Amino acid sequence: MVAKKDIDWGSLGFGYIKTDKRFVSNYKNGAWDEGVLTDDANVVMSECAGVLQYSQSCFEGLKAYTTEDGKIVCFRPDQNALRMKSSCERLEMPVFPVERWVKAVVDTVRADEAWVPPYGSGATLYIRPYMFGSNPVIGVKPADEYQFRIFTTPVGPYFKGGAKPIVIRISDFDRAAPHGTGHVKAGLNYAMSLHAIMDAHRNGFNENLYLDPATRTKIEETGGANVLFVTPDKTLVVPKSPSILPSITRRSIVYIAQNILGMKVEEREVLFDEVKKGSFAECGLCGTAAVISPVGKIYDHGTEYAFPSGMEEMGPVLKKLYDTLTGIQMGRLEAPDGWIQVI
Ligand code: PLP
Ligand code: COI
Repeated sequence: MVAKKDIDWGSLGFGYIKTDKRFVSNYKNGAWDEGVLTDDANVVMSECAGVLQYSQSCFEGLKAYTTEDGKIVCFRPDQNALRMKSSCERLEMPVFPVERWVKAVVDTVRADEAWVPPYGSGATLYIRPYMFGSNPVIGVKPADEYQFRIFTTPVGPYFKGGAKPIVIRISDFDRAAPHGTGHVKAGLNYAMSLHAIMDAHRNGFNENLYLDPATRTKIEETGGANVLFVTPDKTLVVPKSPSILPSITRRSIVYIAQNILGMKVEEREVLFDEVKKGSFAECGLCGTAAVISPVGKIYDHGTEYAFPSGMEEMGPVLKKLYDTLTGIQMGRLEAPDGWIQVI
């Protein structure tokens, strides 16, 4: 075991801290090179690189945890590799092979072991794999050369205040077009959301809740997380849509609810009208960064819809799901087969 960095882990927010090593592999003449771990955190490329001109890039996000018994693990990295494969296919980028992808994550985390926050510190090591078109492209077409990189950074809670319920609002902007790129993790989806998130913050909201762009009646997701609802009879309801990101956290929560906690789960279209009618007792956002973050209120153009779980703490059903999910991630509870990758 290497000595941990001298960091006040408990006060970390969700920001970037440069760690020691990162993985880099280049794609040229139709093939990926072997890849290396390097100290160099800078990327130098042509002024005309595909990513700089036409935003040809995609990324992933996952975390490494120190378990109760002192191991370092990460959660379902194969699922992130597969999602990046589908992002690359949609964006005409070359796929970095899934097995090599997982190995590169393991190698990078191992090299940055000193930066993995200790068990119980409230922090985790966020892992950011990403790929971009790197050679000059001036006509609108895919690049011929690409770089795949993985860096790590220790992080605390995504929303300030940790487990305190947040307030979100229905956005006037759309995040994803029908038949667009909402279901893949393209950098461009996040560029699209920047004005909306700044406008939300300026108006006192933590996040935007996007409705389906075609009819503006169905709940999609927020800028960086999927949405969970719980009915008064404790059924978990999760919005289903072809234009939301298939969150690995959400799919894991659905599995936990059904197979570990014996809950009823509905994965279906969810109308915003159901929120207006008070059909749900609890609401939360879920994702790698968000984990499960409780939502206390949703605003729709000045009208407030408050959940009975209130503004003080996470509702009881989401708390149970949170405890089970994080218990599995931190090694306190037995994990379903294949969920935990030991580093
Ligand atoms: N939705 C969006 C738009 C995201 O950016 C993320 C984060 O990755 C998620 C949902 C949650 O996905 P996951 O649970 O795989 O991290
Ligand atoms: C993640 O949860 O990993 C994400 O990529 C969300 C991002 C907005 C930080």
